[in-house]
Amino acid sequence: MQKYRIITYGCQMNVHESEKIAGILTKLGYTEAKEGEDADVVVFNTCCIRDNAERKAMGHIGMLKTEKKKNPSMIVAVVGCMTQQDGAGKALREKFPFIDIVLGTSNLALLETYIPSVAASRGKYVDIDENELPPINENESFYRTSGTNAWLNIMYGCNNFCTYCIVPYVRGRERSRTKEAIKDEFLRLVDEGYKEITLLGQNVNSYGKDIYGGEYGFADLLEELAKVGGKRRIRFMTSHPKDFNRKLIDVIAEYPNICNNIHLPVQSGSDKILKLMNRHYTREYYLDTIAAIREKLPDCGITTDLMVGFPYEEECDFLDTLDMVERVRYSNAFTFVYSVRKGTPAAKMPQVDPEVAKDRIMRLIAAQNKITKELSKEYENKVYEILCEDFSPNKKGCVCGRTDSGRLVTFEGGGDLIGKFVNVRITRSQSASLFGVTEE
Ligand code: 5AD
Ligand code: SF4
Repeated sequence: MQKYRIITYGCQMNVHESEKIAGILTKLGYTEAKEGEDADVVVFNTCCIRDNAERKAMGHIGMLKTEKKKNPSMIVAVVGCMTQQDGAGKALREKFPFIDIVLGTSNLALLETYIPSVAASRGKYVDIDENELPPINENESFYRTSGTNAWLNIMYGCNNFCTYCIVPYVRGRERSRTKEAIKDEFLRLVDEGYKEITLLGQNVNSYGKDIYGGEYGFADLLEELAKVGGKRRIRFMTSHPKDFNRKLIDVIAEYPNICNNIHLPVQSGSDKILKLMNRHYTREYYLDTIAAIREKLPDCGITTDLMVGFPYEEECDFLDTLDMVERVRYSNAFTFVYSVRKGTPAAKMPQVDPEVAKDRIMRLIAAQNKITKELSKEYENKVYEILCEDFSPNKKGCVCGRTDSGRLVTFEGGGDLIGKFVNVRITRSQSASLFGVTEE
């Protein structure tokens, strides 16, 4: 049996796209190589959101050179966001001539024809969608690897052009799937027994604008999916604060199967920086949205993305970001140092001293850690319904799963609990980690 290995970098979208790649390879008769086992096909599914993501992928691709020398028939493919940057496909092939296939973000399906071609003739294929993106392919088969949770893409691309971000350039404009296609896939996942389904899009809140105008939006879609019978959880990400509306809050409040867990990236707490970032909201507008969420969904876990060191960021702007963190009290925050992305407007702006940015990220992480720890304490001695996801990666004899609000809980138990809803009393917390015991 021929084996494959997929190495994935980046966001959930990429994780899900790797399931698509695995689906194609399975169809071609390959099976996944176990840890340490040689592979006949190696696929790198890359990310380019920040410089370190790119450097990591480049390093790993480079390391494959010796493996390829030992096994010249091994097929190496590089796909995804990194290849989609200006001239990147050609540059990759020049730097690493042993790469056989380079594909972009929306033509992954071509692997199905290119892999057998390379296997037969050792030809080389570089195929990036540089112009018009192809229509959405509704005939994909996935090889889902995510256990109890299934990812479901509702849209592709992004129209927002935040001035720091490469995503709209490498993933193209927003393209929504039809509500029928999404509902069909949702029902299939329900039939297959998934207990949690996560709807994915770069900005789920603008779902449907391209195909339904203002007639049918994300709140309508979410409500329809929530009405499907049976016990399960629905999550979604990511939300852009400018499009997060009150109707959506009402739908989340009405249906208990929609998780009280919202990822609402704020990026910065400074109005000056938000404007320079082209985010189309002010700190006041964002805080009003948070207040509306807290009013209707008091137990909602709110998470965010934060960036420091964006061009023109001064100490007073950074203090506004710290103030935002203190006010909102996020249950978790993903913190980043701004990374210059060639071709984006912010790349041409004056850059902040890296030492200053480093100092700010440390202070930001410390502030958020303190809040996370305090919020964790509030979970102690209370009982939560947990969807048990897997064995604990760190604690023997334990399993783990999440609260509705998205917090990870580790508790004693065996494999029989995986995929089940269990009541767990939180007995102890340690920074972001919660530990508990099952209750009747
Ligand atoms: N530099 C640093 N962080 C970035 N992000 C996006 N682009 C950049 C960049 N150029 C962050 C944002 C976004 C998250 C997915 O990645 O915070 O919300
Ligand atoms: Fe990038 Fe902004 Fe689009 Fe998010 S909304 S993917 S940060 S351009």
